[in-house]
Amino acid sequence: MIELRSITKTYGESKNVVTVLQEVTCTIADGEFVAIMGPSGSGKSTLMHIIGLLDSPTCGEYILDGVSVASRSGDDLARIRNEKIGFIFQAFNLLPRATVLRNVMLPLIYGTRDSGSRLERAQVALRAAGLGEERWQNRSNQLSGGQMQRVAVARALVTDPAVLLADEPTGNLDTATGDVVLESFQALHDQGNHTIVLITHEQYVAEHAARIISIRDGRIVEDKKNGHRRAVRSITPAVSV
Ligand SMILES: Nc1ncnc2c1ncn2[C@@H]1O[C@H](COP(=O)(O)OP(=O)(O)O)[C@@H](O)[C@H]1O
Ligand SMILES: [Mg+2]
Repeated sequence: MIELRSITKTYGESKNVVTVLQEVTCTIADGEFVAIMGPSGSGKSTLMHIIGLLDSPTCGEYILDGVSVASRSGDDLARIRNEKIGFIFQAFNLLPRATVLRNVMLPLIYGTRDSGSRLERAQVALRAAGLGEERWQNRSNQLSGGQMQRVAVARALVTDPAVLLADEPTGNLDTATGDVVLESFQALHDQGNHTIVLITHEQYVAEHAARIISIRDGRIVEDKKNGHRRAVRSITPAVSV
Protein backbone atom coordinates (compact mmCIF):
# COMPACT_ATOMS: atom_id res chain seq x y z
CA MET A 1 0.00 0.00 0.00
CA ILE A 2 2.81 2.38 1.00
CA GLU A 3 6.24 2.04 -0.53
CA LEU A 4 8.99 4.50 0.36
CA ARG A 5 12.25 4.23 -1.55
CA SER A 6 15.20 6.22 -0.28
CA ILE A 7 13.07 9.16 0.78
CA THR A 8 15.19 12.16 1.73
CA LYS A 9 13.87 15.53 2.84
CA THR A 10 16.05 18.58 3.31
CA TYR A 11 15.30 22.19 4.10
CA GLY A 12 17.41 25.20 3.21
CA GLU A 13 20.28 25.50 0.78
CA SER A 14 24.03 24.83 0.54
CA LYS A 15 25.72 25.65 3.86
CA ASN A 16 22.44 25.90 5.76
CA VAL A 17 20.96 22.68 4.52
CA VAL A 18 19.15 20.64 7.17
CA THR A 19 18.47 16.98 6.47
CA VAL A 20 15.26 15.94 8.20
CA LEU A 21 14.76 12.54 6.55
CA GLN A 22 17.64 10.48 5.21
CA GLU A 23 17.09 7.64 2.75
CA VAL A 24 14.01 6.26 4.43
CA THR A 25 13.05 2.98 2.79
CA CYS A 26 10.15 0.80 3.88
CA THR A 27 7.05 -0.96 2.66
CA ILE A 28 3.75 -1.08 4.52
CA ALA A 29 1.30 -3.67 3.22
CA ASP A 30 -2.43 -3.29 2.79
CA GLY A 31 -4.17 -3.78 6.14
CA GLU A 32 -1.10 -3.40 8.36
CA PHE A 33 -1.20 -1.47 11.64
CA VAL A 34 2.20 0.21 12.02
CA ALA A 35 3.53 2.63 14.62
CA ILE A 36 6.27 5.07 13.64
CA MET A 37 8.06 5.91 16.85
CA GLY A 38 10.84 8.35 17.58
CA PRO A 39 11.75 11.27 19.84
CA SER A 40 10.58 14.80 19.19
CA GLY A 41 12.34 16.28 16.15
CA SER A 42 13.23 12.90 14.62
CA GLY A 43 11.20 13.57 11.46
CA LYS A 44 7.95 11.73 12.19
CA SER A 45 5.55 14.48 11.16
CA THR A 46 7.61 15.26 8.08
CA LEU A 47 7.35 11.60 7.09
CA MET A 48 3.62 11.59 7.75
CA HIS A 49 3.16 14.68 5.57
CA ILE A 50 4.98 12.92 2.75
CA ILE A 51 2.97 9.70 3.17
CA GLY A 52 -0.21 11.79 3.28
CA LEU A 53 0.69 13.76 0.11
CA LEU A 54 0.75 17.03 2.04
CA ASP A 55 4.45 17.46 1.22
CA SER A 56 6.86 15.99 -1.29
CA PRO A 57 10.31 14.49 -0.72
CA THR A 58 13.52 16.19 -1.89
CA CYS A 59 14.69 12.87 -3.37
CA GLY A 60 13.48 9.33 -3.49
CA GLU A 61 10.35 7.68 -4.74
CA TYR A 62 6.99 7.23 -3.07
CA ILE A 63 4.52 4.71 -4.41
CA LEU A 64 1.03 4.82 -2.92
CA ASP A 65 -1.29 1.96 -3.83
CA GLY A 66 0.74 1.23 -6.96
CA VAL A 67 0.94 4.86 -8.11
CA SER A 68 4.28 6.68 -8.18
CA VAL A 69 3.13 10.04 -6.89
CA ALA A 70 6.01 12.25 -8.07
CA SER A 71 4.64 12.44 -11.61
CA ARG A 72 1.18 13.61 -10.51
CA SER A 73 -0.10 17.18 -10.65
CA GLY A 74 -1.30 19.07 -7.60
CA ASP A 75 -4.95 18.49 -8.52
CA ASP A 76 -4.33 14.78 -8.96
CA LEU A 77 -2.60 14.60 -5.60
CA ALA A 78 -5.47 16.40 -3.89
CA ARG A 79 -7.92 13.94 -5.40
CA ILE A 80 -5.83 10.92 -4.42
CA ARG A 81 -5.42 12.33 -0.90
CA ASN A 82 -9.15 12.88 -0.50
CA GLU A 83 -9.92 9.41 -1.78
CA LYS A 84 -7.29 7.30 -0.08
CA ILE A 85 -6.15 9.03 3.10
CA GLY A 86 -7.80 9.90 6.39
CA PHE A 87 -5.90 12.16 8.82
CA ILE A 88 -6.10 12.34 12.59
CA PHE A 89 -4.09 15.03 14.38
CA GLN A 90 -3.04 15.64 17.97
CA ALA A 91 -5.03 18.88 18.09
CA PHE A 92 -8.21 17.26 16.64
CA ASN A 93 -8.62 20.14 14.13
CA LEU A 94 -12.41 20.22 14.27
CA LEU A 95 -14.60 23.19 13.38
CA PRO A 96 -15.46 24.31 16.93
CA ARG A 97 -18.87 25.86 16.26
CA ALA A 98 -20.13 23.20 13.87
CA THR A 99 -22.04 20.16 15.12
CA VAL A 100 -20.47 16.74 15.41
CA LEU A 101 -22.41 15.55 12.35
CA ARG A 102 -21.35 18.54 10.25
CA ASN A 103 -17.71 18.04 11.18
CA VAL A 104 -17.85 14.40 10.14
CA MET A 105 -19.69 15.12 6.87
CA LEU A 106 -17.23 17.84 5.87
CA PRO A 107 -14.83 15.63 3.82
CA LEU A 108 -17.80 14.43 1.75
CA ILE A 109 -18.60 17.92 0.49
CA TYR A 110 -16.03 17.50 -2.27
CA GLY A 111 -17.64 14.31 -3.53
CA THR A 112 -20.78 13.81 -5.57
CA ARG A 113 -22.85 12.03 -2.93
CA ASP A 114 -26.28 13.42 -2.06
CA SER A 115 -26.92 14.85 1.38
CA GLY A 116 -28.93 11.80 2.52
CA SER A 117 -26.10 9.39 1.87
CA ARG A 118 -23.60 11.87 3.38
CA LEU A 119 -25.60 11.85 6.60
CA GLU A 120 -25.84 8.08 6.57
CA ARG A 121 -22.11 7.65 6.08
CA ALA A 122 -21.38 10.13 8.87
CA GLN A 123 -23.60 8.15 11.22
CA VAL A 124 -21.89 4.87 10.34
CA ALA A 125 -18.46 6.47 10.86
CA LEU A 126 -19.48 7.92 14.25
CA ARG A 127 -20.66 4.51 15.39
CA ALA A 128 -17.39 2.97 14.19
CA ALA A 129 -15.47 5.59 16.18
CA GLY A 130 -17.60 4.80 19.24
CA LEU A 131 -19.26 8.18 19.84
CA GLY A 132 -22.75 7.89 21.31
CA GLU A 133 -25.68 9.25 19.34
CA GLU A 134 -26.67 11.65 22.13
CA ARG A 135 -23.62 13.79 21.20
CA TRP A 136 -24.15 14.07 17.47
CA GLN A 137 -26.03 17.38 17.55
CA ASN A 138 -23.56 18.97 19.99
CA ARG A 139 -21.14 21.56 18.75
CA SER A 140 -17.66 20.12 18.83
CA ASN A 141 -16.50 22.74 21.36
CA GLN A 142 -19.01 21.27 23.83
CA LEU A 143 -17.21 17.92 23.91
CA SER A 144 -14.42 16.48 26.05
CA GLY A 145 -11.01 15.82 24.50
CA GLY A 146 -11.69 12.11 24.14
CA GLN A 147 -15.02 12.77 22.46
CA MET A 148 -13.40 15.30 20.10
CA GLN A 149 -10.81 12.76 19.05
CA ARG A 150 -13.56 10.24 18.34
CA VAL A 151 -15.21 12.82 16.09
CA ALA A 152 -11.87 13.30 14.37
CA VAL A 153 -11.54 9.52 13.91
CA ALA A 154 -15.05 9.43 12.44
CA ARG A 155 -14.19 12.31 10.11
CA ALA A 156 -11.11 10.40 8.95
CA LEU A 157 -13.19 7.25 8.37
CA VAL A 158 -16.13 8.83 6.57
CA THR A 159 -14.59 8.64 3.10
CA ASP A 160 -13.63 5.00 3.77
CA PRO A 161 -9.95 5.69 3.08
CA ALA A 162 -7.49 2.88 2.44
CA VAL A 163 -4.97 4.56 4.76
CA LEU A 164 -5.47 6.17 8.17
CA LEU A 165 -2.64 8.46 9.30
CA ALA A 166 -2.65 9.52 12.94
CA ASP A 167 -0.01 11.97 14.21
CA GLU A 168 0.28 11.78 18.02
CA PRO A 169 -3.49 11.18 18.29
CA THR A 170 -3.31 10.64 22.05
CA GLY A 171 -0.93 13.54 22.72
CA ASN A 172 -3.65 15.77 24.18
CA LEU A 173 -5.48 13.00 26.06
CA ASP A 174 -5.00 11.41 29.45
CA THR A 175 -3.91 7.75 29.39
CA ALA A 176 -7.35 6.20 29.90
CA THR A 177 -8.95 8.36 27.21
CA GLY A 178 -6.01 7.75 24.88
CA ASP A 179 -6.46 4.02 25.38
CA VAL A 180 -10.01 4.24 24.11
CA VAL A 181 -8.79 5.88 20.91
CA LEU A 182 -6.01 3.29 20.50
CA GLU A 183 -8.50 0.51 21.06
CA SER A 184 -10.69 1.88 18.29
CA PHE A 185 -7.65 1.67 15.97
CA GLN A 186 -7.14 -1.95 17.00
CA ALA A 187 -10.78 -2.75 16.34
CA LEU A 188 -10.50 -1.13 12.90
CA HIS A 189 -7.31 -3.08 12.23
CA ASP A 190 -8.95 -6.35 13.21
CA GLN A 191 -11.67 -5.62 10.69
CA GLY A 192 -8.97 -5.40 8.04
CA ASN A 193 -10.33 -2.61 5.85
CA HIS A 194 -7.69 0.02 6.53
CA THR A 195 -3.92 0.42 6.64
CA ILE A 196 -3.16 2.33 9.84
CA VAL A 197 -0.03 4.42 10.49
CA LEU A 198 0.20 5.68 14.06
CA ILE A 199 2.87 8.27 14.83
CA THR A 200 4.05 8.65 18.40
CA HIS A 201 7.03 9.43 20.60
CA GLU A 202 5.78 7.04 23.29
CA GLN A 203 6.73 3.36 23.53
CA TYR A 204 3.50 2.64 25.39
CA VAL A 205 1.40 4.02 22.54
CA ALA A 206 3.48 2.29 19.84
CA GLU A 207 2.96 -1.06 21.55
CA HIS A 208 -0.68 -1.01 20.48
CA ALA A 209 0.40 -1.53 16.86
CA ALA A 210 1.37 -4.81 15.20
CA ARG A 211 4.67 -3.45 13.85
CA ILE A 212 6.94 -0.73 15.20
CA ILE A 213 9.27 1.32 13.01
CA SER A 214 11.68 3.42 15.07
CA ILE A 215 13.25 6.55 13.66
CA ARG A 216 16.12 8.67 14.98
CA ASP A 217 17.49 11.77 13.29
CA GLY A 218 15.52 11.06 10.15
CA ARG A 219 16.64 7.46 9.68
CA ILE A 220 14.95 4.16 10.37
CA VAL A 221 16.94 2.47 13.13
CA GLU A 222 14.64 -0.46 13.82
CA ASP A 223 11.65 -2.14 12.16
CA LYS A 224 10.10 -5.07 13.99
CA LYS A 225 6.91 -7.06 14.39
CA ASN A 226 5.18 -6.48 17.70
CA GLY A 227 3.94 -9.92 18.68
CA HIS A 228 2.78 -8.79 22.11
CA ARG A 229 0.40 -6.12 21.05
CA ARG A 230 -1.13 -4.33 24.01
CA ALA A 231 -4.54 -5.88 24.61
CA VAL A 232 -7.85 -4.24 23.93
CA ARG A 233 -9.52 -3.91 27.30
CA SER A 234 -12.98 -2.68 26.42
CA ILE A 235 -14.88 -3.72 23.36
CA THR A 236 -15.49 -0.93 20.86
CA PRO A 237 -17.70 -2.43 18.20
CA ALA A 238 -16.37 -1.02 14.95
CA VAL A 239 -18.56 -1.49 11.94
CA SER A 240 -17.52 -1.24 8.34
CA VAL A 241 -17.87 2.17 6.71
N1 LIG B 1 9.79 23.82 7.24
C1 LIG B 1 10.88 23.46 7.94
N2 LIG B 1 12.04 24.12 7.78
C2 LIG B 1 13.14 23.76 8.46
N3 LIG B 1 13.20 22.73 9.34
C3 LIG B 1 12.06 22.05 9.55
C4 LIG B 1 10.86 22.34 8.87
N4 LIG B 1 9.90 21.47 9.26
C5 LIG B 1 10.49 20.65 10.16
N5 LIG B 1 11.79 21.01 10.33
C6 LIG B 1 12.75 20.34 11.23
O1 LIG B 1 12.73 18.96 10.94
C7 LIG B 1 12.95 18.21 12.12
C8 LIG B 1 11.89 17.15 12.23
O2 LIG B 1 10.62 17.74 12.43
P1 LIG B 1 9.30 16.88 12.59
O3 LIG B 1 9.11 16.05 11.38
O4 LIG B 1 8.20 17.81 12.95
O5 LIG B 1 9.68 15.95 13.83
P2 LIG B 1 8.76 15.13 14.84
O6 LIG B 1 7.38 15.08 14.28
O7 LIG B 1 9.41 13.79 14.93
O8 LIG B 1 8.82 15.86 16.14
C9 LIG B 1 12.96 19.19 13.28
O9 LIG B 1 14.29 19.40 13.65
C10 LIG B 1 12.36 20.42 12.69
O10 LIG B 1 12.90 21.57 13.30
MG1 LIG C 1 5.56 15.67 15.08
